[in-house]
Amino acid sequence: MELRKPRGTRDFLFEDMELRKNVEMKLRNVFERYGYREIKTPIFEHLKLFTIKSGEEIKEQMYHFKDKGGRNLALRPELTAPIARLYVNKLQRFPKPIKMYYFGSCFRYERPQAGRFRQFWQFGCELIGGKSPEAEAETIALAYDCLKELGLKNFKIHIGHMGIVRGMLEENGVKGEKQDHIMTLIDKGDKEELSRYLNEISFPSELQELLFSLIEMKGDSKILDEILDIVGYRRSVEAIQELKNLESLLEVFGVKNYLMDPGIARGLDYYTGIVFEIYISKTQICGGGTYNLIELFGGEKVESTGFAFGFDRLVEAVGNKTEKFSFADVFVAPVSDETREAAFKIAQKIRKSGISADVDLSRRKLGKLLSYADHLGVKYTIIVGKKELKQKRVTVKDMESGEQKEVQIDDLSDYLRRGLKKF
Ligand code: HAM
Repeated sequence: MELRKPRGTRDFLFEDMELRKNVEMKLRNVFERYGYREIKTPIFEHLKLFTIKSGEEIKEQMYHFKDKGGRNLALRPELTAPIARLYVNKLQRFPKPIKMYYFGSCFRYERPQAGRFRQFWQFGCELIGGKSPEAEAETIALAYDCLKELGLKNFKIHIGHMGIVRGMLEENGVKGEKQDHIMTLIDKGDKEELSRYLNEISFPSELQELLFSLIEMKGDSKILDEILDIVGYRRSVEAIQELKNLESLLEVFGVKNYLMDPGIARGLDYYTGIVFEIYISKTQICGGGTYNLIELFGGEKVESTGFAFGFDRLVEAVGNKTEKFSFADVFVAPVSDETREAAFKIAQKIRKSGISADVDLSRRKLGKLLSYADHLGVKYTIIVGKKELKQKRVTVKDMESGEQKEVQIDDLSDYLRRGLKKF
């Protein structure tokens, strides 16, 4: 029987993990520079947590199951709902605003394709208790700085507001589930199905035209005035004013690379205000905005905003920029059984000095050990011979140049540190 990994999942090997760790560390750094601190929630939650707002149909996109106690549980498809739950359970009395960030895997039962997996990772944040538009402006600035820190340039931040389209639908009598369904179709970019559905619910054709032109409009701030010329609905006008206020703050926070896009509808149903998505060509690498979940979960009304990077897509965009991969800096090779224990002691001493070292555990001959050290990608191999050991010395071989040098064991850590340019 051949055992394979489940569809839509991946194994990550050493070099993949090195790159992922690199990206992770850079993101952690920027999030913490903005005053965010990390939290963790369970990988599975009660199914209800995800269906309260989004309805039963969301179950189709989830891994959900009954446990042995008969409880309906689900692997989390995202982390905003779990964090809203955590806030209601534990943090309601905490001084606000509260800034939390997270890094964890999510599960969605989707058709796997390039950049779309069934297990994927999100790196994101939630800001609870900030006020619009400064909360959104700083949140977008954080996402922008993360991308800059990763050396990415070719991204575009699309900013919209749920109130523009919802306001228009609301004031024309399209509410509740019908409205949500339209937003889902806009989010999917499925114009044919959208048109079919609008006809099905007898949405007037002149309003259909208005809706289609609205979601097609994107551009710099001038577009906001153009939208004002075609929609006069109260909620839509308020939404545009909020976007205008946000825009002047984005300038203050130094955010660039953005455009206004009223067609941003977001796939999840909890968004209420300003929303944004970041793209690299056609790939969405980040999504977020202002939402209302806490009140729905039984907490008091509190403004919340946040976003999540699709970590896997981000790593893909960063590409393989890691330097030469190696398992360790140094390999310690005993020449014979008689020097084996000394080799272990030397390896421990090097490790204590903060340098990564591997040591032979296979009892192979020196020739084999040198080619293994080469495979490990170490800069130096330390050859521990009996004769040199008597003089408290070892031979250090530079694996790139092939040069060999005898070094006093007492001076070894300093010698390696200098060569490795550490500390
Ligand atoms: P989302 O847009 O559903 O938002 O997911 C965030 C990001 O996760 C997407 O922009 C995308 O890059 C990535 N992503 C989504 N599905 C997959 C998949 N199947 N495979 C690989 N990457 C994927 C949320 O989940 C919200 N909770 C974000 C948020 C936080 N809103 C407010 N706070």
